[in-house]
Amino acid sequence: MTDFNYEEVKHNFDRDALLNSMKTQLSEFRYTHCLRVERVSRGLAAEYGADVQKAGLAGLLHDYAKERSDDEFKQVIKSKNLDPDLLNYNNAIWHGIVGAEIVKDELGIADEDVLNAIRRHTVGSTNMTQVDKCVFVADFIEPERDFPGIDEAREYAEKSLDSAVAFELKHSIAHLIDKNREIYPATFESYNYWINKL
Ligand SMILES: [Fe+2]
Ligand SMILES: [Fe+2]
Repeated sequence: MTDFNYEEVKHNFDRDALLNSMKTQLSEFRYTHCLRVERVSRGLAAEYGADVQKAGLAGLLHDYAKERSDDEFKQVIKSKNLDPDLLNYNNAIWHGIVGAEIVKDELGIADEDVLNAIRRHTVGSTNMTQVDKCVFVADFIEPERDFPGIDEAREYAEKSLDSAVAFELKHSIAHLIDKNREIYPATFESYNYWINKL
């Protein structure tokens, strides 16, 4: 760990206003999850030299749209002319890729680095930025997470962001296969790209 104190990095956005908006959209469980992801994401960003502000903001808002209806997501996919193949998937995929559009429109977040981190937080990408990786990994290892493999995930996050991303993709795909669930193709592209970093 570096001695950089991420808690001293002041927020350059109206965090209280965002928290109020989040409270109207999210269950208590998911709201507190978002606060934990914000905190871990800022910590990872400080440790690995990423932008603490952006990593924190994207971590805070990453699940902002998660509790929207399927109908709302389908409408956004159509009105924004997003890839029609998205219509074949579900909330697990939509709340990131499509959710970023809702964050942009409802909360006025225009920073594409922040929006991309939200877009990529479930399926990853072959060209993830440091901010993307911080949010992706923070979502997986925040303190309340508890699943077989969590200790290993946290160890990889101490070692390097890239290895933690690779482990998470491997773990997530294995989990989906185990549960007989469909896998969004971009997840495989991410996996193929990152797995040699493990
Ligand atoms: Fe999510
Ligand atoms: Fe999350």
